[in-house]
Amino acid sequence: MARLTARWGRSAAADSATLGAVSGIGTLFAAMGETRGCERRKETRMADTLGDVPPPSKIHLKQVSQIFETPGQPEVLALDRIDIDIAPGRFVSLIGPSGCGKSTIFNVIAGLLAPSEGSVEIDGEDVTGYIGLVGYMLQKDLLLPWRTVLDNVILGMEIRGVPVRQARERARPYLERYGLAGFERQYPPALSGGMRQRAALLRTLLCDTEVILLDEPFGALDAQTRSAMQEWLLRLWEDFGRTVIFVTHDVEEAVYLSDEIYVLSPRPGRVRAHLEVPLARPRPRSIVTTDVFARLREHCVELLGPAPTDLPADVAA
Ligand SMILES: Nc1ncnc2c1ncn2[C@@H]1O[C@H](COP(=O)(O)OP(=O)(O)O)[C@@H](O)[C@H]1O
Ligand SMILES: [Mg+2]
Repeated sequence: MARLTARWGRSAAADSATLGAVSGIGTLFAAMGETRGCERRKETRMADTLGDVPPPSKIHLKQVSQIFETPGQPEVLALDRIDIDIAPGRFVSLIGPSGCGKSTIFNVIAGLLAPSEGSVEIDGEDVTGYIGLVGYMLQKDLLLPWRTVLDNVILGMEIRGVPVRQARERARPYLERYGLAGFERQYPPALSGGMRQRAALLRTLLCDTEVILLDEPFGALDAQTRSAMQEWLLRLWEDFGRTVIFVTHDVEEAVYLSDEIYVLSPRPGRVRAHLEVPLARPRPRSIVTTDVFARLREHCVELLGPAPTDLPADVAA
């Protein structure tokens, strides 16, 4: 911490470098790279749409497998031929037991990890191993304690070369609209968990990437804050129109938020089921009391349990 507090007044580039070191994997870099490729792809997609050709998927993981090799240890097959295909603007959740490879999938999508097999396509282009094409937010918010909330939120824009004053001007209305008015000049340690997550999420969204990865962003929040944050996130998603991939342990959260849910098996992670969520939007909170909601939640819970083939023969029979 002494090292960190000695760095007040640093440049955005220095802050991004420290953040990479703090996070261990440089996740924010994945959110902040070159976006011109995305612009080009967007134009291509619009042209396709005008010509009545159905738009290609936004992001497609094609048969992705991941083997971890650690010297002196047996190999770990973490992901086994994962196929996930997501159309533009969808809200898609991944659920599965701890250790089934959800964060590994995100690291592959973000280009931080080269898959042992398979590929990642965005807008039909092979982007396996590319960083900078998606926004990525971890459960731990990684706000920089020496920057105000406003200056944390603009970090992505700053790193991409937007002048600080301009970036602050752009960010201010968002802070107001999304519940952070009055907190602009506060430092992260003064904020509640929910407020910190709001700031971190806004920072991710203002990086202007079209695909956003959220890895258990509400996992550490109490139930009431979590529920408020879910509604807040849906509002943000509806306003920004981004494609969101969301990892959660909480089945109810997945059903409430999502258009689609991928259920993963215990390690090695495989797609056990891919479900549509047939609930209209906008979704009032009371939707959780409907039969459709309850049935889907139960179905997910069953799928998360051991498959018949996972059980000892006498139990499965
Ligand atoms: N860098 C690594 N080296 C070795 N094993 C790893 C590495 N990263 C993840 N794993 C293993 O891969 C599996 C999947 O991990 P992870 O993606 O973090 O799961 P989840 O996010 O679903 O909890 C786990 O068994 C984990 O121990
Ligand atoms: Mg994880």
